[in-house]
Amino acid sequence: MTPPVDTPAGRGRPRVVLGVGAGIAAYKACELLRLFTESGHDVRVVPTRDALRFVGEPTWAALSGHPVAADVWESVHEVPHVRIGQEADLVVVAPATADILAKAAHGLAGDLLTNTLLTARCPVVFAPAMHTEMWEHPATRANVATLRERGSIVIDPAVGRLTGADTGPGRLPDPAEIFEVCRRVLRGRPRDLAGRTVVVSAGGTREAIDPVRFIGNRSSGLQGYALARTAVARGAEVVLVAANVALPDPAGAKVVRVESALELREAVLSASAGADVVVMAAAVADFRPAQARESKIKKSSGDPEPIQLVKNPDILAELGERRRQAPRAVPYPRVIVGFAAETDDVLANGQAKLAAKGCDLLVVNQVGRGLAFGTPDNAATVLVAGGEPVEIPRGPKDDVADAVWDLVAARLA
Ligand code: CTP
Repeated sequence: MTPPVDTPAGRGRPRVVLGVGAGIAAYKACELLRLFTESGHDVRVVPTRDALRFVGEPTWAALSGHPVAADVWESVHEVPHVRIGQEADLVVVAPATADILAKAAHGLAGDLLTNTLLTARCPVVFAPAMHTEMWEHPATRANVATLRERGSIVIDPAVGRLTGADTGPGRLPDPAEIFEVCRRVLRGRPRDLAGRTVVVSAGGTREAIDPVRFIGNRSSGLQGYALARTAVARGAEVVLVAANVALPDPAGAKVVRVESALELREAVLSASAGADVVVMAAAVADFRPAQARESKIKKSSGDPEPIQLVKNPDILAELGERRRQAPRAVPYPRVIVGFAAETDDVLANGQAKLAAKGCDLLVVNQVGRGLAFGTPDNAATVLVAGGEPVEIPRGPKDDVADAVWDLVAARLA
């Protein structure tokens, strides 16, 4: 194996240590490594000895452009077990196995990765991946709690298919989502939502006409997903209620999938009991067919009958009303945020909605003519109950989300 320390290729470039644990998800860390290197980060890969059974040293060395070692006994004169950690701007461990979490929580130092974790004074991100039983075991829960108390960021694993046939929490989140968390940590964004629980709805509801047709809308879910992703990065526990969104799950968020407005209402109301913040970014259909047909409407059955529509409940207004009626001692969302997509009279319509729905902040978007739906950028005016409107300039949806969380965090404080 090649020596573990060389001259850093690019002083001035952010230095990242990518720790790789011995899990089958190690192959996904190759993708994470590429995302770092292609965006100008200088990455040292430090796998555990057993991780090299899953992905070998030549792969890590070729992709990182650096030598790779798992042991502390190579190039000892360069003191790699201390230097790699000391020089890092960020350490991310992906996948973090139950074994690594335990060793890190207890300060063991039997290999290069655990030594690096002990000597690093920069932010440390763990992206665990393991079987559900291991993730849920009290020993692992205690180790995760210890690491979080010490300031490490432990991303909750995604729920889904695990090795073999079983499913449950334990999957490594999408590498692009882990990368976003790391990039934000490197930018030094605040973790001012730590200890808060937030519910975000995203996407657009579908109201069934028959088993194959529905009434829907153009919402892509991008802004709602950006809100969930940024809230996780700011330390919140996030439930994301996603209506018909085809995007990777934001790392660390608990995703509840729904289809119709009635399902979305059920999921949002149940998740919002005791939540600090609810953000209704979903585009909810105002009407649904009075009755969804059980069989497909056939062309051969003659002229179509008109579809009778009935009103859907207004979930945002219901949240506001519940809060208004709640006794003081009952937990309720302390901050309720609505979204309003408008094509005309944007601000006047927004002010009327803010008042009618009883929310604290209303993020007003102009839509149509290539704006907002499905685009990576957004701009908005946030109407504030009892305050002056705040303009959010055009920018990536993550930046718009951060600006919204700034206002939410100020209200929570
Ligand atoms: N909303 C909701 N339940 C509905 C409709 C909308 O909770 N049945 C929420 C949306 O999630 C959004 C806000 O209300 O946060 C405003 O949605 P919008 O569609 O702009 O407003 P509407 O109240 O539906 O009014 P209109 O469509 O007539 O403009």
